[in-house]
Amino acid sequence: MQILLEADCLIQALKNMSESVILNLCRQKRCHGWVASTSIPIILEEEGVSAKDFQSVLQDLAVLTPTAHDINQALQSEKVFAKDLAVRLVEKSGLDAVVTLFPENFSNLKIDAMSPEQLRERLDSRPSPVSEVRLLDITASYHQILNKVEKEMAETIRSGHFILGPKVSQLEERIAEYCQSKYAVGVSSGTDALLIALMALGIGPGDEVITSPYTFFATAGSIIRSGAKPIFVDINDVTFNIKPEHIERCITSNTKAIIPVHLYGQCSDMDPILKVSEKNSLAIIEDAAQAIGSSYKGKPAGSIGDMGCFSFFPAKNLGGFGDGGLVTTNSKELYEQLKIIRVHGSEPKYYHNVMGGNFRLDALQADVLIAKLSFLEGWTNKRRENAQRYHQLFKDSALTPFIQLPPEVFSGHVYNQYVIRVENRRDELRMFLNSKRIGCEIYYPIPLHLQDCFKSLGYKNGDLPESEKAAKVTLALPISHEVDQAQQEYVVKTIQQFFLG
Ligand SMILES: Cc1ncc(COP(=O)(O)O)c(C=O)c1O
Repeated sequence: MQILLEADCLIQALKNMSESVILNLCRQKRCHGWVASTSIPIILEEEGVSAKDFQSVLQDLAVLTPTAHDINQALQSEKVFAKDLAVRLVEKSGLDAVVTLFPENFSNLKIDAMSPEQLRERLDSRPSPVSEVRLLDITASYHQILNKVEKEMAETIRSGHFILGPKVSQLEERIAEYCQSKYAVGVSSGTDALLIALMALGIGPGDEVITSPYTFFATAGSIIRSGAKPIFVDINDVTFNIKPEHIERCITSNTKAIIPVHLYGQCSDMDPILKVSEKNSLAIIEDAAQAIGSSYKGKPAGSIGDMGCFSFFPAKNLGGFGDGGLVTTNSKELYEQLKIIRVHGSEPKYYHNVMGGNFRLDALQADVLIAKLSFLEGWTNKRRENAQRYHQLFKDSALTPFIQLPPEVFSGHVYNQYVIRVENRRDELRMFLNSKRIGCEIYYPIPLHLQDCFKSLGYKNGDLPESEKAAKVTLALPISHEVDQAQQEYVVKTIQQFFLG
């Protein structure tokens, strides 16, 4: 539960910290407590409350800052200012209740109000049955991250340095270190990361780039945008990643690069890909958009090929508050080239020797990512735990004859998605899960070689059978770090109900 703590209740808590019901519930993470920043002066002015004690309770609470608009609206209200503001904050921020010593003051208002004891009773009573599991609930982590994000963003807003600048450099350094790469270049999106990587290699019209047809559109879309031609190679029937054994026979004198995609958070089998690329002098661009933090035989995604491309789309394991991306590389030469292409090919300023574009990353996105990066490892571990729990629950529920679980072929999977194969009745199952308010998604219903916009490439149905089959049977289930055991049990039980009645 997400709750707003009224000043009265926090004052009481601070006067008897060890005995405080509300503080204990927040410390034990049984609820997420927020305090409005406007209550803080009121709390600190109270006799017997020390700033030091308040600071220590803030370790378990998050501060919610009303906007000037919220304050203006509350000032215009006929209700008491503090009460109106509390109602507004609970409603607008999607909190569940306000906790106060005087819940009766909130009667007849649209929000739930309760005393600390009533909250404890609510949390102690039988846990309410799960009624919804979202595929992704981005706001669920706000209690953990928002104050850190606000700190970073406030620095940027106060500095006025919105494009690239010190925050983007800081992010680049931290991600390069995280991915064990020498360099990183922040860019405007994962799609642009792929395009700029191709441009840095000088790939263009007449060139061919080998990739997987079973991926998000951007992988092949970027190849076309560079002027080159995508050559699709079918996937491994277990991992959903490009099958290295098929690559060599697709290489021609025009082939310049391979883009293996680390789909769903699991690395492609890189050793044979490296071998074939060395033998044929091809560059490797890892599409690691879904795979930050994953590894292949101990090497982080993005550090294995010539360049690694990451996406910070909000649904990714490390997602921004908008679009963003990044390219990693160990090559100084490519690094310098990427930086020039990112700013319209300008070096020095207003002198353009190469073609570039506006591929810059906003400092405000870097702020969000810097703040979130310190949580990434913990969140990834939670995704892995969730995957293990699904594995066990599916096995215990006798569902494995109906669905195939995603295998972890190389340790280091980061489960951006947990994708099962459902050979029969996949679309029916999806509808059934949606009807039970369980989010699930088909990534991807049409492999890229069969997309209308790629018709001119000349592929037809049957050319890449494993990709075509995957498109018919895959289904992604909720796996993010916010998903808890009860929700996973609900998902598995619902699938059991579908297949076994
Ligand atoms: C495999 C893959 N490649 C590339 C991209 C493109 O990233 P973005 O959405 O940040 O442009 C995505 C993102 O959805 C992706 O999943």
